[in-house]
Amino acid sequence: MDTCSPRIAVYPGTFDPLTNGHVSLVRRGLKIFDKVIVAIAASTTKNPMFSIPERIDMAKEVFQDAPDVTVESFDGLLVDYVHRHGVAVILRGLRAISDFEYEFQMALMNRRLKREIETVFLMTEYKWMYLSSTIIKEAAKNGGDINGLAPDCVLSKVYARVAELKNGKNCRG
Ligand code: COA
Repeated sequence: MDTCSPRIAVYPGTFDPLTNGHVSLVRRGLKIFDKVIVAIAASTTKNPMFSIPERIDMAKEVFQDAPDVTVESFDGLLVDYVHRHGVAVILRGLRAISDFEYEFQMALMNRRLKREIETVFLMTEYKWMYLSSTIIKEAAKNGGDINGLAPDCVLSKVYARVAELKNGKNCRG
């Protein structure tokens, strides 16, 4: 990597929805990298609660105070997207030992696909170790209190979507 060019990292994920754990990781990433690209995966085996444009809008709203954060979606292989942007680093968070095996596998596969791209891991902040997007959605669907687990603008959209789902609306239409 050229020492004069900006250090950019791509932080990929499904972000359905963005949690405080993700936000913390991006903000901590900015202490190491000049820019962080939040890359929202379009094709995923998960059945997302929010559409890609909705997830992009949420992330943009959350990081509107951070000019060095950009938000995009990507399709296909992560390494191809990263390479197209001329970026050399994938940023990932490690929450617990259970994440390690999957992350190790993915980092090695990505390395095999594009040797010049490195994966950098940051330990997730202790208070977000147990958090996942699914756990937030599950709690909200079952009437649990999710306040404090995601940014307020995200929480309001989760509550609204849960209410829509309860009313039987097709909200991702
Ligand atoms: N704080 C809180 N929660 C966190 C977190 C953190 N710091 N880091 C991750 N999580 C949560 C996520 O919300 C996610 O929750 P969910 O499973 O309930 O949705 C879970 O932990 C797993 O996160 P992650 O491992 O980042 O999975 P993901 O689905 O968000 O992203 C991709 C996976 C998109 C990065 C990966 O599938 C990918 O790169 N896909 C493109 C195709 C490709 O190139 N594949 C690899 C090579 S074959």
